[in-house]
Amino acid sequence: MIPDSLLDEIADALVEPGYWISDRAIPVDIGTGLQGAFEMLQAEEFKVAGIGRQTDFQLEEKIRADKIHWISANSPETTQFLQWMDALKAGLNRRLFMGLFDYESHFAHYPVGAFYKKHLDAFRAKGGQPSSNRVLSTVYYLNESWLPENGGELLIYNEADSAVVETVQPTFGRLVIFLSEKFPHEVLPANRERKSIAGWFRVNEGRLS
Ligand code: OGA
Ligand code: MN
Repeated sequence: MIPDSLLDEIADALVEPGYWISDRAIPVDIGTGLQGAFEMLQAEEFKVAGIGRQTDFQLEEKIRADKIHWISANSPETTQFLQWMDALKAGLNRRLFMGLFDYESHFAHYPVGAFYKKHLDAFRAKGGQPSSNRVLSTVYYLNESWLPENGGELLIYNEADSAVVETVQPTFGRLVIFLSEKFPHEVLPANRERKSIAGWFRVNEGRLS
């Protein structure tokens, strides 16, 4: 499903610099199907998203203002997407021995002005602390004809000195993959609604404890 040459390229990028951005990864028909599946969802099927294990919703609204809908293989479109991610998982495990175990993902709707402040998708395990088992993050964009003046960029920072290493427009078909523990990132507010699919490969819980 994914050409070996593409898997090689992604695996190399994850070794160094630790992230990969491309507009030619996921086949266009899958992207178009996902746009349709997103459109079919009703407003009430999107929920305020949590941050980590927090349950303080007032705090959450200061950090992120998107609304989410968890993806399952309940339509041909989402099934194709999840199958593509499964092929990516297998290809990366073969090349990098990452031990990727499962994948969770959600549609994210950012209304005009919504943002997601700088954050990490996972925290390294420290003695005794609970750790996230998210190791690899993906973001896939569904916005046709996005213009620079629309804002809504994904900023990726480097771990060492918080310099911005990438500014990513959320343009249709673009896929970003990065090591969850290594790259703080944020979503700037946009002046038009912004649609994406965020996802995370996790390692098996038992491996971390
Ligand atoms: C996230 C996230 C980035 C984006 O949902 O954790 O960082 O560009 N999303 O939508
Ligand atoms: Mn994130």
